[in-house]
Amino acid sequence: MLELKNIEKKFGGNLVLQGISFSLEPGRITGLIGPNGAGKTTLFNVITGFHKDHSGTVIFSGDKITGLNPEDICKKGICRTFQVTKPFANITLTQNVMIGALSRLERIKDARRKAQEILDFVGLYEKREILGRNLTIADRKKLEIARGLATSPKIFLLDEVMAGLNESELLEMKKLIRNIADSGITLLIIEHIMTVIMELSQKVIVLDQGKFLTSGTPEQVTKNPEVIKAYLGKEFKHA
Ligand SMILES: Nc1ncnc2c1ncn2[C@@H]1O[C@H](COP(=O)(O)OP(=O)(O)OP(=O)(O)O)[C@@H](O)[C@H]1O
Ligand SMILES: [Mg+2]
Repeated sequence: MLELKNIEKKFGGNLVLQGISFSLEPGRITGLIGPNGAGKTTLFNVITGFHKDHSGTVIFSGDKITGLNPEDICKKGICRTFQVTKPFANITLTQNVMIGALSRLERIKDARRKAQEILDFVGLYEKREILGRNLTIADRKKLEIARGLATSPKIFLLDEVMAGLNESELLEMKKLIRNIADSGITLLIIEHIMTVIMELSQKVIVLDQGKFLTSGTPEQVTKNPEVIKAYLGKEFKHA
């Protein structure tokens, strides 16, 4: 469905991604993990067209999408959330989500209906008339997801949507992510909270210092001595 071939990205002389090749299968949750600075967010920026000055190829459903703008990549069906959420502060949640919906729908009325359906789906319907600036971290993360969902993605890339959440918010977010996957959207999720990765993903890809380290089931990668050395510190054990 999504295939990366030999992706390389430099910032100045700093090689931040090198030789990254993997493919994503439809209808699954894949985790993307690795230490701070490994290049995870940069890889999202490459896939979704926010960085264009890279080498290598990104192929989506048979089409080469390398070099396209984020808007065009989004129209093709790949959408992402941002690690640092930036809701439009001075408009309502409904209006925030309508902006995403208008990437596919022409009529304001249809976009509003879709925005409200999605706000309901992510659990923000009651807050739909609140301004973007008045949200807690957990709600900002949900809004970020809602804005992405409104573009009707086939592949949705989530960048640390669990960061900063408390236990009950985490439970809610895990449920939401499962519901998104159940709706048929393929997910690639960057996450540092290993329990979340273990519970949600069928497959995990590990990056380290800009390179592909390994991939496999959560059990396989968390037992891999190289992953333990580079990232986990010790073998992951379920509580
Ligand atoms: N715009 C930029 N300009 C220069 N260097 C950058 C830029 N963005 C990222 N980098 C560098 O690229 C490397 C990879 O960063 P990236 O943000 O992709 O890591 P990450 O795996 O997402 O880390 P984290 O888990 O901390 O979010 C880091 O060394 C970072 O300093
Ligand atoms: Mg990051």
